[in-house]
Amino acid sequence: MEQYVIKGGKPLKGEVAIGGAKNAALGILAAAIMTDDIVTIENLPDVRDINVMLVAIQEVGVKVDRVDRHTVRLDSSNIFGFSVDYEYIRKIRASYYLLGALLGKFKKAEVALPGGCAIGARPIDLHIKGFRALGAEVDTGYGVISAQADRLTGGHIYLDKVSVGATINIMMTAALAEGKTIIENAAKEPHVVDVANFLNSMGANIRGAGTDVIRIVGVEKLHGTEYSVIPDQIEAGTFMFAAPATHGDITVKNVIPKHLEAITSKLLEIGCEVIEYDDAVRVIATGKQLRHTQVTTLPYPGFPTDMQPQMTVVLGLAPGMSTVTESIFENRFKYVGEFNRMGGNVKVESNIAIISGVEKLTGARVAAPDLRAGAALVLAALSAEDGITVIDDIHYIKRGYETFDEKLRGLGADIEEVDSEREVQKFVLRVS
Ligand code: EPZ
Repeated sequence: MEQYVIKGGKPLKGEVAIGGAKNAALGILAAAIMTDDIVTIENLPDVRDINVMLVAIQEVGVKVDRVDRHTVRLDSSNIFGFSVDYEYIRKIRASYYLLGALLGKFKKAEVALPGGCAIGARPIDLHIKGFRALGAEVDTGYGVISAQADRLTGGHIYLDKVSVGATINIMMTAALAEGKTIIENAAKEPHVVDVANFLNSMGANIRGAGTDVIRIVGVEKLHGTEYSVIPDQIEAGTFMFAAPATHGDITVKNVIPKHLEAITSKLLEIGCEVIEYDDAVRVIATGKQLRHTQVTTLPYPGFPTDMQPQMTVVLGLAPGMSTVTESIFENRFKYVGEFNRMGGNVKVESNIAIISGVEKLTGARVAAPDLRAGAALVLAALSAEDGITVIDDIHYIKRGYETFDEKLRGLGADIEEVDSEREVQKFVLRVS
């Protein structure tokens, strides 16, 4: 079993380079199959979710040529399947993007119905509402969602809840529907904008991505393109939060500072110094006393739910009482029990974490309950001055962080990936 073993207590210092955005890349890989021409995608993160998506598209007939670690060339001219197996949906929910992509291209698609997941029930009613508004017949039954249409025509869709997934899925199908589609109350996340930019680089006509209202004029076909994925806002945010967690001084490079504004403003509020450059952000927390605060997760440009566990861990080290309110997913506090085993003092009431800051944490054996919570437990372990932390189930972390341990070691952290008790013991001997 893969684990991280960590000896904390050292301020992390130095520079770290951020990779491509996983959640943009998942949408882009699906959208890429909508043309018969060759598409080259650069700055693809080498993380598990992306690698699963690459296998899922190969299964329907896409030829994937991995040019180098972060570049793929896709040939989707010979797609023979319109059906995406449960195996892929179970591993990555985002394989439901293939529904929007295949429906747009072939007017027909079938994807296993995603169930709930570690962070909540996560319904897909809004995706279905969108496909129907574009003229598709959508059925769910026998664990499968199938959509088909004789003709796809533009429609007017109001999303009752801001949804990244529904916005991207509808945008893809509408790109090849006849006439004009309007998506109201659309998600404004940077990765929504990146998928729209990508589709436009293939000849789509999408305007307004990044605002509440997206307007799409369908085109007959899409053509090949070369495209580079934007930097990952959440990977960047996680490393930014490693500075206050360890009282360090970290420069996060290859980022778009504008995408990090909500994260930056919370760091300033809790007492860090943040210096913005054109494509880098430096967070200084050496010698700073952390301050308590209140945070609520919200759709972009609000504070991202994907940074909620990391925020809670850092506030867990700020004297006084803080609160973190989770407004997007109903089950995203599963890590709190593990954090408290490391000496944290957090109580969860309904969707609010009530945090009493402690002076220090101690190492413990914990398990990552999901991707971002796993990353947050790594931050907690890096801050713990006494004891060793072993984190189980790091396969979750690897879904979205490329060479996380290596990047942290570059900042001076004592962290190693191990897969046996013997290796844990060797690490303990080395660091003690
Ligand atoms: C995306 O999930 C991200 N995943 C998530 O990243 C992220 O947490 C989330 O957006 C919010 O920012 C990808 O991009 C692949 P939503 P998504 O649809 O699209 C409700 C990570 O760690 N909803 O914006 O599935 C839903 O239940 C993760 O990388 C409906 O009610 O999220 C939630 O409460 C995990 N009906 C809210 O909307 C629907 O049809 C927002 O979900 C769809 C969503």
